[in-house]
Amino acid sequence: MSQILDHNDDNIQIAANDLLAGKLVGMPTETVYGLAGDATNENAIALIYRTKGRPQFNPLIVHVLDQDMAQNYVTMNDHAKNLASAFWPGPLTMVLGRKDNSGLSHLVSAGLDTLAVRCPAHPVARHLLNATNKPLAAPSANPSGSISPTTSQHVEQGLGQKIDHILEGGACDKGIESTIVLVTNDKLVLLRPGSISAEQLASATGLPVQTKDDDSINAPGQLSSHYAPHAAVRLNAFHKMKDEVFIGFGALDGDFNLSETGDLEEAAANLFKTLHMADATGVPSIAIAPIPWTGLGIAINDRLERAAAPREN
Ligand code: TXA
Ligand code: MG
Repeated sequence: MSQILDHNDDNIQIAANDLLAGKLVGMPTETVYGLAGDATNENAIALIYRTKGRPQFNPLIVHVLDQDMAQNYVTMNDHAKNLASAFWPGPLTMVLGRKDNSGLSHLVSAGLDTLAVRCPAHPVARHLLNATNKPLAAPSANPSGSISPTTSQHVEQGLGQKIDHILEGGACDKGIESTIVLVTNDKLVLLRPGSISAEQLASATGLPVQTKDDDSINAPGQLSSHYAPHAAVRLNAFHKMKDEVFIGFGALDGDFNLSETGDLEEAAANLFKTLHMADATGVPSIAIAPIPWTGLGIAINDRLERAAAPREN
């Protein structure tokens, strides 16, 4: 069992000491909880892959305190700088050219010459970055392929046997992982939809935003089955069938409701928590009401489609 630590200064220091000693820590962010490790320590990064059961071809996101720290590890063109000014700290991850000899683990980007960097807004994540003064690699703190954690309890349930400490940061505000964008000189490629929309990215840079076609190898981690509960998942359901638990949305009510008022931000914040709760009922199938394909609904539907995809292993 891991210990869930309140986020006072002493406990931040305990977590920082873990990280500096090459151990992993459960770290809250505004999107989902991360499994953090020192990105300059090759053994710590290997331990992240092992702890999650994550394939080593699926690179990690490196978390930094600010633009200056990011520039130790990646080359930022003007578009990247504009995006950082507009959305950092916040739920935006940029994939950029990786600098050589920066001291960063090679495993962290799975041998690619690009690196995903993100500057989190959550105060506890920022304290931890400050206390370690290290770039922190942090994938979502769940066993590979399963539902992402939005509370410290979710982390404890999934990885509690494997890590000493989880920092308490409350329920995650956004509830859905960061938007990931590949930044080049003449276009942006949206690799994973999130709270920051393609339209926002386009207007901050004046660049066209391409959405990735299905077999793109640019997002090695975007395996089709992901966020999978134990139960089967049936999407776009209008009512509950036998042996199902029903997750409603708006006026289409169910055993749970992602947002009774049909608010997409609320639905995103509730998404993984509700999937965890529905799965915990032990039913063989979870039915989910249709979510509109607009705004944040695009990111929610992306996660739901992966949750419903057949598992590959
Ligand atoms: O909100 C988030 O981003 C959370 C919190 C903890 O920060 N983290 C997160 O990490 O979602 P993870 O490991 O679950 O998802 C990272 C995604 C994967 O799909 C991975 O393939 C992609 O980022 N990725 C990482 N490095 C990449 C790279 N160099 N090129 C393309 N995709 C990359
Ligand atoms: Mg994940």
